[in-house]
Amino acid sequence: MIDYSALRRWPDAEADNLFASDAADRLIVDTAASALRATIGRDVVVVGDVYGALTLAAADAVVRGAVGGAIRVHQDAVVAEQALAANAERLGLAGAYRSSALDADLVRGATVVLLRLPKSLDALDEIARLVAAHADSSVTVIAGGMQKHMAVAMNEVFARWFERIDVGLARQKARVLTVTGPRAEAARAASTEWPRRQMHADIAPGLWVCAHGGAFAGAHIDIGTRFLIEHLDNAAPRATLAIDLACGTGALAATLALRRPHLRVIASDQSAVAAASARATANANNVADRIEVRRENAGEGIPDACADLVLLNPPFHNGAALDLRVGRMLVVAAARLLAPGGELWTVYNSHLDYKPALRAEVGPTRQVGRNAKFTIAASTKR
Ligand SMILES: C[S@@+](CC[C@H](N)C(=O)[O-])C[C@H]1O[C@@H](n2cnc3c(N)ncnc32)[C@H](O)[C@@H]1O
Repeated sequence: MIDYSALRRWPDAEADNLFASDAADRLIVDTAASALRATIGRDVVVVGDVYGALTLAAADAVVRGAVGGAIRVHQDAVVAEQALAANAERLGLAGAYRSSALDADLVRGATVVLLRLPKSLDALDEIARLVAAHADSSVTVIAGGMQKHMAVAMNEVFARWFERIDVGLARQKARVLTVTGPRAEAARAASTEWPRRQMHADIAPGLWVCAHGGAFAGAHIDIGTRFLIEHLDNAAPRATLAIDLACGTGALAATLALRRPHLRVIASDQSAVAAASARATANANNVADRIEVRRENAGEGIPDACADLVLLNPPFHNGAALDLRVGRMLVVAAARLLAPGGELWTVYNSHLDYKPALRAEVGPTRQVGRNAKFTIAASTKR
C-alpha cells in the first residue's frame, strides 16, 4: 500500500486545505484490489487520475509482484501528468507506468480499468465507449468519484456500452461503480461519433467546430466566444502570428485562420481533450497547415514576445480563489507571449473585473465591447 500522505499536487497549486488524494481515490483502489490481483500478466489501465494516487497504488502492486503486466495511464490535464511523474519519482515508482493518449491503444486488451469519473457525461461516454470497444471482453471498470460530483445519468451512460453496473456502498462520501460486460460490437459501430462536429456558417463561411467529449461548449460556440468573434476583425488586423491561448475546441483559432488567409495561429490548451478537438477543428476546416496545436500549461513552451495578437477566454470563474489564479496566470502568460505593441483581446464575465490585472501585467487596456453578460478588453503590450 502506498503512503497517500506522501503525494503532492505540485506543480499544481498547493495549500493546507488542498489535498493530492481523496476518499474516492482510496475507495477505487480498495475496491480494485481483488480485480488487480487477478490480472497477473495482463494489462491495467488508469484513466482520469488526478495527482497519481490510482496509478501509483496499481504500480506499487506491480512492483511488489502482486500484479503483472503494464500500467497505461491517460490524464486530461498536463499538470496532472506532471504531478504523477513527480509523485512517482518521490515514491520510487518512476518508470512503472506509461502515459498515453485517449485512444484505442490505451485500452486495448485491458482487463482492469481504474477510472476517476469525469465531470462531463460526454467525456464519460467517449471513455466508456472506447473501453467497451477495445478492452478485453472480461474487463472490469472500477469507476469512482465523490458522491456530490456523481449523477444517476452516469449509470445510464455506462448502460449504453456495458451489460452490468453494480453500485457500491458509499464510504466517506465517495462511491464506486463496478462495470462489466462490454457491448463491444455496438461500441465499435458507434465509435465514429467522437469527435462530434457542427457547422457554424453564421460565424465564417464553412466553419466546422469539432469536439471530443468534455471539451468546453462541445461543438457549439459559447456565447462569450461568440461575442469576442463579433469584434474579432478589429483585433490587430495586421498581425502575422496570433495565439489562441486556452483554445478549447479551437473555434477562435479556426475563425481567425479562415477570415485571415495569411495569418498563422498557435492554439494552446492544457487539456488533452481540448488539444485533440482543436486538431480536429483545424483539419475539418483545411487550415491545419496554418494552425499549430499544442498541449501545455499556459502556453509555457511558446517563445517569448513572438505574437502580435493573443485571444483569451479564460476558464469560467465560480468565485473560488483557485479559478481566479488560473485566469491571472493566463494573463501573465499572454503578456510574456506578446511582442511590444501586440494586443491581448480578453472576453470575461463582466462581474469579474479583469482590467486591473490586464493593465498591470500587459499594458494600457480599453473596453471594446460589453453586453448584458460579457466584457471584451483589448490590452496593448508595453
Ligand atoms: C472558457 S474555455 C475557452 C475555450 C475556447 N477558447 C473558447 O472560447 O471556446 C477555457 C479553456 O481554458 C483551458 N485551461 C484551463 N486552465 C489552463 C491552463 N492552465 N493552461 C492552458 N489552458 C487552460 C481549459 O482547458 C479550457 O479549454
